[in-house]
Amino acid sequence: MVETQVWRVDPNAPDLEHTPQIIAAAEKLVQGEIVAFPTETVYGLGGNAKLQDSVRKIYEAKGRPSDNPLIVHVATLEQVRDICTEIHPIAKKLIDTFWPGPLTLVLPSRGEVSNAVTAGLSTVAVRMPSHPVARALILASNLPIAAPSANLSGRPSPTRADHVFYDLDGRIAGIVDGGETGVGVESTVVDCTTTPITILRPGGISKEQLVEVVGAVADDPGLTRSDQIPKAPGMKYKHYAPQAMMYLVPSGKEKICELVATEKNNGRRIGVLTTEENRDSYPDADVVLVCGKRSEPATVAHNLFDVLRRFDQKNVDAIYSETFSEEGIGKAIMNRMSKAAGGRIIE
Ligand code: TXA
Ligand code: MG
Repeated sequence: MVETQVWRVDPNAPDLEHTPQIIAAAEKLVQGEIVAFPTETVYGLGGNAKLQDSVRKIYEAKGRPSDNPLIVHVATLEQVRDICTEIHPIAKKLIDTFWPGPLTLVLPSRGEVSNAVTAGLSTVAVRMPSHPVARALILASNLPIAAPSANLSGRPSPTRADHVFYDLDGRIAGIVDGGETGVGVESTVVDCTTTPITILRPGGISKEQLVEVVGAVADDPGLTRSDQIPKAPGMKYKHYAPQAMMYLVPSGKEKICELVATEKNNGRRIGVLTTEENRDSYPDADVVLVCGKRSEPATVAHNLFDVLRRFDQKNVDAIYSETFSEEGIGKAIMNRMSKAAGGRIIE
């Protein structure tokens, strides 16, 4: 057990890099400790990417399988050049368009970061976050920061400092609390070592946005086909799961009401995950939680992980969930929801 410090910061404060809170958190990173911080997607659990011992602490605190590599967070292109052997023209185009922002690029590694970060792969995943707190922390520590999402392995990713505290209090040196994150789902992971480039994990930047900039973009077959192993090692693991069994119900309201009625007859406590538009459609459910507006998918992405965590406080036996169109950010939403549901779909 370590004592987990919490540093509160206002992400809009001027000159964050030189505030006492960021300096204190950066100091911990320099000392080889691990610290959670907000990014524009979810909270990350950061450590010095070049120091084996720090990286080992990250895996330990999360209970993360050691074959699942981490994303390295940078604030400058110089840091990317230090870590990667080459940035070819397509990768450069993506960087110029989407960085800083919720896009992670898998590039050839120079072997500068710890082997534990890359899980022994010849590539390294790199991202330049846009969140002012993340940027300030990277600059103040002057380190490339290896950071997976700051949740216990298998749990929904954290979008608020109290989610991190709930999972990791006593396991990490500190948490920089910069309020709620924005996007709410993690970055899009793109493999830039293939032609065309390949989406390994859908996320904050949509396939449509990528196609607009570089033309051809492939999807990793491992994302959709059960006979293929995903190329991002993390995508094969159970993830985002609430404690109760969750079921996706694509046909929607009427079917969900029917399921609720049957389950209630069996004496079970039932939750429904819905949207603003349908909040009054499930009068018989024990718990109804709204994850956003169907007409504004970005609000659903923003709230999704918080809602999944809130179900755990409600002691439901099962959760029935509405589903969403896979357009734009919807692809990342449905990817996370189907993982949360362990692939359980009721047609
Ligand atoms: O938005 C995000 O990406 C957040 C914030 C904190 O930046 N981070 C995050 O990290 O989601 P994590 O560790 O939860 O997810 C990283 C994903 C995993 O699926 C991992 O397997 C994949 O990226 N990955 C990392 N390095 C890779 C590599 N060299 N090749 C293929 N996949 C890689
Ligand atoms: Mg994660």
